[in-house]
Amino acid sequence: MQVYHNYIGVFDSGVGGISVLKELTKELPQEDFLFFGDSANAPYGEKSTEEIQRLSMNIADRMVENGVKAIVIACNTATSAAALLIRNKYQKDIPIIGVEPALKPAAEADEGRDSRILVMATPATLRMDKFQKLEKRLEGEAEFLPVPCAGLASRIEQGHFEEPDLKDLLKRLIGSYKGQVDGIVLGCTHYPFVKKQIQEVMGPVPLYDGGRGTARELKRALTGRGLLKKAPTPGQVVLSSSLKTPEMKTLYSWLYKEAEL
Ligand code: DGL
Repeated sequence: MQVYHNYIGVFDSGVGGISVLKELTKELPQEDFLFFGDSANAPYGEKSTEEIQRLSMNIADRMVENGVKAIVIACNTATSAAALLIRNKYQKDIPIIGVEPALKPAAEADEGRDSRILVMATPATLRMDKFQKLEKRLEGEAEFLPVPCAGLASRIEQGHFEEPDLKDLLKRLIGSYKGQVDGIVLGCTHYPFVKKQIQEVMGPVPLYDGGRGTARELKRALTGRGLLKKAPTPGQVVLSSSLKTPEMKTLYSWLYKEAEL
């Protein structure tokens, strides 16, 4: 077994977590990161809660066996379903950081107005308690319009973001809200990769995602436990996937090195 002692483990159902990884490496360039995308089992957002928990726990177990010093669950769906279980098992040993849809930043950005915020996320994220509670907590701060985006994460897993079918899918999912919302929450880590296409469909409306907030939280957690790497040199980033095709390898590396957020 390969050992990634002192690396930070970051995982997602697939390529989406790379949007979070990019923010993590920007905030903590000296750290070493082991990214794992479970593309062979994507999408998680259309699976049962139990199945998402089983898949997520398997990845966390493997990462801990590999010696990581922290885990970032770079997936809203896996965080909603499994963060509690993973924390119960490992939080005493290492920090476990999750992501959640950026409802709060979206509501705060539009303070003082009766804003309408579209929330794009997977069907699983939107049906789970964690989201329902978050929405309830922010009741009165904005009107949230949750839209389950079935099929979108799987389409993003295929790459080729300039093909017209992607825009057609977006139009079908959210096009009817054009001109009627003040902000859009990207509540799935796959979606920041198609920000441009979302804005082409919806016009110049502000988009909110949790990537940067997650990076700041990771930094706080590492600082709090005295785990920050001291070396002044840039860290290593290892990209790995459960789907080992050449196309996937190319897509992972393109998304990490070149794709814009
Ligand atoms: N990237 C994941 C999220 O943030 C889920 C995509 C999927 O596998 O359905 O929710």
